[in-house]
Amino acid sequence: MLEIKDSVAVITGGGGGIGFAVAKYWVQNGGKVVLADVAQEPLDKAAAELKAMQGEVVTVVGDVTSEEDSARLADTAIEKFGQINLVAPCAGIIKDGMMVAPDRNTGKVTRKMSLGDFSKVIDINLTGVFLTVRECAERMINNNCKGLICLVSSSGSLGTAGQINYASSKAAMSIMPKVITAEFFRRGLSGQIRCMAIAPGYVGTEMVKGMNQSALDKILSDVPIGRLIEPEEIAQLMGDMYRNEAIAGEVFFIHGGLRLGSRG
Ligand SMILES: NC(=O)c1ccc[n+]([C@@H]2O[C@H](COP(=O)([O-])OP(=O)(O)OC[C@H]3O[C@@H](n4cnc5c(N)ncnc54)[C@H](O)[C@@H]3O)[C@@H](O)[C@H]2O)c1
Repeated sequence: MLEIKDSVAVITGGGGGIGFAVAKYWVQNGGKVVLADVAQEPLDKAAAELKAMQGEVVTVVGDVTSEEDSARLADTAIEKFGQINLVAPCAGIIKDGMMVAPDRNTGKVTRKMSLGDFSKVIDINLTGVFLTVRECAERMINNNCKGLICLVSSSGSLGTAGQINYASSKAAMSIMPKVITAEFFRRGLSGQIRCMAIAPGYVGTEMVKGMNQSALDKILSDVPIGRLIEPEEIAQLMGDMYRNEAIAGEVFFIHGGLRLGSRG
């Protein structure tokens, strides 16, 4: 069983949503936090709130798609706190749209997802996660740190209409815990650094608040628990997975029974 007290969490996308909820949970349980996001302002706001909770916090402005920024983030954690114990790459975006959208009257395609919208989501949600995890794992190994790499996939990884970019990024990311666990096992590291993913359903953050609300209400009416997941519930699960060293290499769904509630 690992203790969160005095451990160090590196969290991307920490300026809001799930990343910030994980940061609050870490601080509430005596941990230290290195918080990264693309803009200074949300980071400052988040850091002020965490410091008011007596949290030890360092912020890093950076883009997860930049190799340089990712290395700087991992270096900052080692320089400031000497270790990395949790890696939570929570930065992610959506850019929804149908791959091809035929006009309802003519049956001819009038819109299609742009290459830019496809690539941007893959760059941030998949390549960005790879970079954060690679840079942090390197420092964890070199500094003999024990802990968990916990990715944030999505129930969307099972396939959702209008999300070929997002669903593909999350499905691809969902294989990473298995690959990383197998690689660490070969080098005798799998007892020291575990890798998992959490795959949430619909969580009450800005990402979901930005969705079409009537579409969201319709989705929620088919979710057995009948509500959004709270970001704090994701953070609590991540904390439980951190503590419990028997958990490794898997994707853990937390969606309130999503897809089991079909009335059809
Ligand atoms: N909200 C949900 O329903 C839900 C469900 C399943 C999975 N997820 C996943 O959880 C993660 C967090 O989502 P959220 O709901 O908290 O979203 P959010 O939009 O509230 O927060 C995402 C954060 O990532 C940051 N970010 C975006 N691009 C970045 C970049 N290039 N570099 C660094 N930071 C960047 C944003 O500034 C923002 O603070 C994402 O990976 C998302 O796909 C969310």
